[in-house]
Amino acid sequence: MPVLDYEPLVLSPRREVPRLSPIQEEVRALKKERNAVILAHNYQIEEIQQVADYVGDSLGLSYHAQAAKSDVILFCGVHFMAETAKIVNPGRTVLLPDLNAGCSLSDSCPPDRLAAYKAAHPGLYVVAYINCSAGVKAQSDVICTSGNAIKIVQQVPADREILFVPDQNLGQWVSQRTGRKMRLWPGSCYAHVQFTVQALEKVRAQFPGAPIVAHPECVQAVRDLADEVCSTELMVGFSRSHPSDQIIVVTESGMLHRLRREVPDKTFIAGPTDSCACNDCRYMKMNTIEKVRDALKTLSPAIEVPEPVRSAALIPIQRMLDWSKR
Ligand code: 13P
Ligand code: SF4
Repeated sequence: MPVLDYEPLVLSPRREVPRLSPIQEEVRALKKERNAVILAHNYQIEEIQQVADYVGDSLGLSYHAQAAKSDVILFCGVHFMAETAKIVNPGRTVLLPDLNAGCSLSDSCPPDRLAAYKAAHPGLYVVAYINCSAGVKAQSDVICTSGNAIKIVQQVPADREILFVPDQNLGQWVSQRTGRKMRLWPGSCYAHVQFTVQALEKVRAQFPGAPIVAHPECVQAVRDLADEVCSTELMVGFSRSHPSDQIIVVTESGMLHRLRREVPDKTFIAGPTDSCACNDCRYMKMNTIEKVRDALKTLSPAIEVPEPVRSAALIPIQRMLDWSKR
């Protein structure tokens, strides 16, 4: 497919903090009234990130969800993230602004298919990327995120054969970095696989000298082209410490808002695809500021995870949280 003609999406340094809109002020007031905490993923729209108490990656969000003391956790992300919050902190009301906010990776590995695969191949040690359902987590030995996957896999007993689910691209990257052979579940992130070498070479020619930082959910050819491959959280540190004042960011476009806030003196260029100057996750973008307000008003939609799935899923999540601190 030819690279279409479009202008790159460039966010230049921002010097002033924008004022909150009336609806954002309403959210802030409702948050107080409901004794709620708002946790938002790096891919959320800027309006939501601005009213959140914490904005971060899947790992940071899991720790914050577990530590939350408020009555309500309003989770601005996708379903598996809110589900994880409910698993680690079941005493709180956990809300997700749009229940349809799913994830293609999670969909690629239904719990019954994993159960069938495990039954046909007994003895495998299942490492599950956090982008999966509670039903898959409940059948896993340990969970990982993109931020700690290498560290987690390095701690799996050496005599066990690993099945890595559901992201084949992240799994391949971890396998290459750790030297550990693994069976890979054939799932992928529909958004990250849209980044191509040809689109990135074009943008690199427009911004010579700007390093490319890419998420490990990208395909290998894109990862090989990148100067750094890391989780969304680690992109913040990379951008801060790299000598260049322009950075090409190959992940979902919401990440650029977080980067612009935390590294305000640099220019961020969205990684393009063959058809678009930036790349949005349609699930992450289902959450809107109106839905955030309505969730706080109505205390719905709320996430429930039935027992015994919840307590079975907690074991590998807790193992991840513990191993991650080692
Ligand atoms: P991070 O763990 O890097 O935040 O990634 C989550 C995700 O959904 C990436 O597509
Ligand atoms: Fe899932 Fe990809 Fe969206 Fe992340 S960006 S939530 S992996 S579909």
